[in-house]
This record gives sequence, structure tokens and C-alpha cells, in this order.
Amino acid sequence: KQHNFIIAIDGYSACGKSTVAKLLASKLNFLFVDSGALYRAVTLFFIENNVESADPYTIQESLNRITLAQTADGLETLTFLNERDVSSVIRQMEVSNRVSKVSALREVRQFIVNKLQEIGRSQNLIMDGRDIGTVVFPNAHLKIFMDARPEVRARRRYAELLAKGEHISLSEIMDNLLLRDRQDTTREESPLVQAHDAYYVDTSDLTEEEVLAVIATRYGEVAQIRGNAMNKAV
Ligand code: CDP
Ligand code: CDP
Repeated sequence: KQHNFIIAIDGYSACGKSTVAKLLASKLNFLFVDSGALYRAVTLFFIENNVESADPYTIQESLNRITLAQTADGLETLTFLNERDVSSVIRQMEVSNRVSKVSALREVRQFIVNKLQEIGRSQNLIMDGRDIGTVVFPNAHLKIFMDARPEVRARRRYAELLAKGEHISLSEIMDNLLLRDRQDTTREESPLVQAHDAYYVDTSDLTEEEVLAVIATRYGEVAQIRGNAMNKAV
């Protein structure tokens, strides 16, 4: 039985999952974990070490050479691959273009799911990803499924990259989002799907603050019900 409080946020790319998860985490004083960043870090390792084969033995052997870590620095999340800070490199298009292929590999999923479950054993946290409410923490206390129209998502990601000085065309971003949506929803190993008990939020026409308010309200309701149940138990 899970005693720490777990909030799982799943959904499509660039709906605002991590942005809102970070805001809520700081409001509730929960740990925020960006699971996608770990898949991106493994992908970076595969790119840098020319791991091309999908042979399970080769994949496992490569994973054995990887240590991953994530730390929070205010509202910033830092991701480390073998102790190197890779937080910004993992956002590059080269990684974005390969990550869905790498994260479809069974050994890679097993490796990261183990890591995520270990992190979630002891502390209150908010984790965002694709399979958090379905596979990683099927007993999460609050599950959110985020969606937004593809044009809105592409424009948000475009603005984000532009602000970082990266000029990637809107159409290249759109292609990448749609390709990943397809790969993530159709893969055999834990595909992206809304958990039956997840709360659906379409963020297309909402500001970050509005999305935060919706989820915070939902959290309040769940926490109250849980508090009542726990009071009755004693
Ligand atoms: O932030 P963005 O939507 O670009 O993606 P991300 O959250 O960084 O995740 C990158 C990719 O990792 C996704 O497109 C999935 O292929 C994979 N991923 C996954 O398979 N399972 C997760 N729990 C999180 C990410
Ligand atoms: O984690 P995910 O891939 O779902 O999205 P993200 O990395 O949080 O990126 C979403 C981008 O859209 C960020 O640049 C936000 O500032 C912006 N945004 C948002 O997150 N939520 C809104 N309601 C509106 C805009």
C-alpha cells in the first residue's frame, strides 16, 4: 500500500504537463519528476555511443553502463547522465527525433520504470510522462490526462525553443509531435493511453494558471476524501 501521495500526469507532447506539474509541486512542496527527461537521457547515450541495434543483449549491455539522476533546483529540473548535466542537450531535435523509438524498447522501459518506482517509494511526488498512471503507479492517488490541439502544442513548443535561441520551423516541430504521438500510442510496450480513472484536461484554451487551478482543485477534493478515509481508519 502506497503511503506517500502520488500525482500522475500523462498525455501528449507539449500539452503543458511538466510546466504545470512543476508549479503544482512547488505549491504543494512535492518532488517533481520528469520521466520523459530520463528517456531522453538514455536516447542521448544511445546516440553518443552509436547503439543502433535493437538486439536485447546489446540494449541491456548498454543500459548497464548508464546511471541516471534528477534533481530539483527551484523550478528547474536537472537531469544527469553518468554524472554529466544533460538537461539542455536532451531537448535538442536530434534527441526528440529518436526518443520514441528508444523508449519503445522493452529493456529501456523496464530500466526506467524500475528507477521511477524506486523514487516513488518514499516521497510525495508529481510525475509526468506517458505511462505513469497506467504502468508506473497504477495506484496513484490523482491521475490527470492532458491533451491539447496539435497546432496549439506545436506553437507552444516553437515559442519555447525560440526563446532558447533555437530556430526550428513550426512544420518540423509539428511533424515531430505527430510522429511521436503515433509512435507512443501504437507501441506494444505500455502505449500512451488514458487510464480509466484519470481526469481529462484539454489545455488548448487555458493559461498555465488556469490549468494549475483545475488540477489544484481536483487535488483538494482527492486529498480531502483521503483524509476523511484515513481519519475513519484510526
Ligand atoms: O516534453 P515532451 O512532450 O517533448 O516529451 P517528454 O515528456 O520529454 O518525453 C519524450 C518521449 O519519451 C516521449 O515522446 C515518449 O516516447 C517517451 N516517454 C515514455 O515513453 N514514457 C514516459 N513515461 C515518458 C516519456
Ligand atoms: O510537458 P509537456 O511536454 O506536456 O509540455 P511542457 O514542456 O510543459 O511545455 C508546454 C509549453 O507550453 C511551455 O512553454 C509552457 O509555457 C506553455 N504553456 C503551458 O504549459 N500551459 C498552458 N496552458 C499554456 C502554455
